[in-house]
Amino acid sequence: MFKSAIDPQKLEAFLEINNRLNSRYFDLNGLFTQILESATALTNGESSSLLLLRPDSQQLEFVVALGPKGEEVKSFTVPKGEGIAGWVAEHNTSIHVPDAEKDPRFYSKISRNVGYPNQNILAVPLRVQGQCVGVLEMINKKGGQSFHTEDMTWLELFANQAGLAIQNAKNFQAMKDELQTLKDVLETKVLTHSLLTQNARMNEILSLCRKYASTDSAVLITGENGTGKELVAEYVHQNSPRSRGPFVRVNCAALPENLLESELFGYVKGAFTDAVSDRQGRFEQAQGGTLFLDEIGTVPLFLQSKLLRALQSKTIERVGGSQPVELDIRIVAATNSDLHQAIAEGTFRQDLFYRLNVLPVNLPSLRERSEDIPLLAGFFLKEMNQRFRKAIEGFQPEALDRMRRYDWPGNVRQLQNTIERAVVLANGRRLGAEDLGLPGEDEPSTPQDLKAAVQQFKAGLIERTLAECKGNQTKASRQLGIQRTYLSKLIKELNVELMEKGAQDVAKY
Ligand SMILES: Nc1ncnc2c1ncn2[C@@H]1O[C@H](COP(=O)(O)OP(=O)(O)OP(=O)(O)O)[C@@H](O)[C@H]1O
Ligand SMILES: [Mg+2]
Repeated sequence: MFKSAIDPQKLEAFLEINNRLNSRYFDLNGLFTQILESATALTNGESSSLLLLRPDSQQLEFVVALGPKGEEVKSFTVPKGEGIAGWVAEHNTSIHVPDAEKDPRFYSKISRNVGYPNQNILAVPLRVQGQCVGVLEMINKKGGQSFHTEDMTWLELFANQAGLAIQNAKNFQAMKDELQTLKDVLETKVLTHSLLTQNARMNEILSLCRKYASTDSAVLITGENGTGKELVAEYVHQNSPRSRGPFVRVNCAALPENLLESELFGYVKGAFTDAVSDRQGRFEQAQGGTLFLDEIGTVPLFLQSKLLRALQSKTIERVGGSQPVELDIRIVAATNSDLHQAIAEGTFRQDLFYRLNVLPVNLPSLRERSEDIPLLAGFFLKEMNQRFRKAIEGFQPEALDRMRRYDWPGNVRQLQNTIERAVVLANGRRLGAEDLGLPGEDEPSTPQDLKAAVQQFKAGLIERTLAECKGNQTKASRQLGIQRTYLSKLIKELNVELMEKGAQDVAKY
């Protein structure tokens, strides 16, 4: 490529950037600036720009612009096919235009507006896997000279570097996305265990769900906190022809409004500002499978309209995008709030309700199916024995009796947490009524040993406070009137089981 000896200064700059390519995936703009600065210095350019082509709008946007008018230039965009840069993007070919303002392709809008004469332009395409994704452009050589062929060669080399940087960052982002998807899948799988019941009404509901499962219509699951809505949503998916596809869950209550929209619909990356690739939303992740919209009653009104549109048209558009994406998904939604009341109060759209409530499932509370209590308690006991390496054999008759008579406002989840806590704290072979720590009628008898009684009391109080504070230890310590560090010490000492992070698993009773 080079007939004469390579200029050591140029080579050094080139190698320096090359080294950085392998280490900087995050700060792509920093890398672009450096690439452009080096290219500009080495070709003696007066001004220069790095433009990237937005696939949706087919406009070239300035990512870095150097020179006296650099900052002003950045507010413009250049349509593909227009101007010198637009020509390069369209033809995927380098160009040297010695007298730019006389060239018919020249896009005078920018230079006229910022008051900067363009005499001599050198522009080369930025390529990713051969495709033009942007343009590197030099404007006016210092000292009024014209650019040389060698300048073009160097500029092409730097463009190649930038192309590699984009490719690296895209690969990196794609891997991150894939990892996130895998984590999501794993999370769903870990949460899953089989659905147990001996109750006639629950069995009818499950048989109804199997019938529902064969269709593609929306299912709306209602029921009190902890009645098993999520488990039933998975049951519908597992029994449907979509069971080999993904089961994607969104807890609509866990995300702030502004994030929920992009979480659901995804987004088109804005002009390479802080990341390089577009992001799929949950709708798209659920393609071929089921999208579970949990806590649907908490979706704000403006998003309800967007949801409705998506369900009606079976398409979505990513935030900031303009290409509709066709959907092949099944919707299952769940709520523990009274949607009829929300409709009456104007906080939930009636038309959306009808769209979601095609196949309704209402889960009975645990107190309405008390025959499930011993079954579930036994199941959770086994699970917790395994988790905490204990060998508790079962329940004393008073414990079973106590559990049957208790009204379980937090339903199955509360039963699960109760057993978990009892397994952690109990010392005997069988759990007694007092181990359950259930409030109400006969208060649990206090352990005989004062120290144990105090510890049991402390653990109970801390657990309840943590539940009230949704697992937030700082808040809980304030409420308890103790230091945050002391609380975390007590949690360890007393074996208080911490809730999972994230609002989805916050016990709500
Ligand atoms: N019939 C069941 N058999 C086994 N486990 C169950 C059953 N019902 C619920 N669970 C368990 O109880 C817990 C709560 O269930 P789930 O999360 O499905 O309830 P939910 O109605 O979605 O609760 P919330 O309203 O709090 O979101 C989970 O750990 C779940 O696995
Ligand atoms: Mg739930």
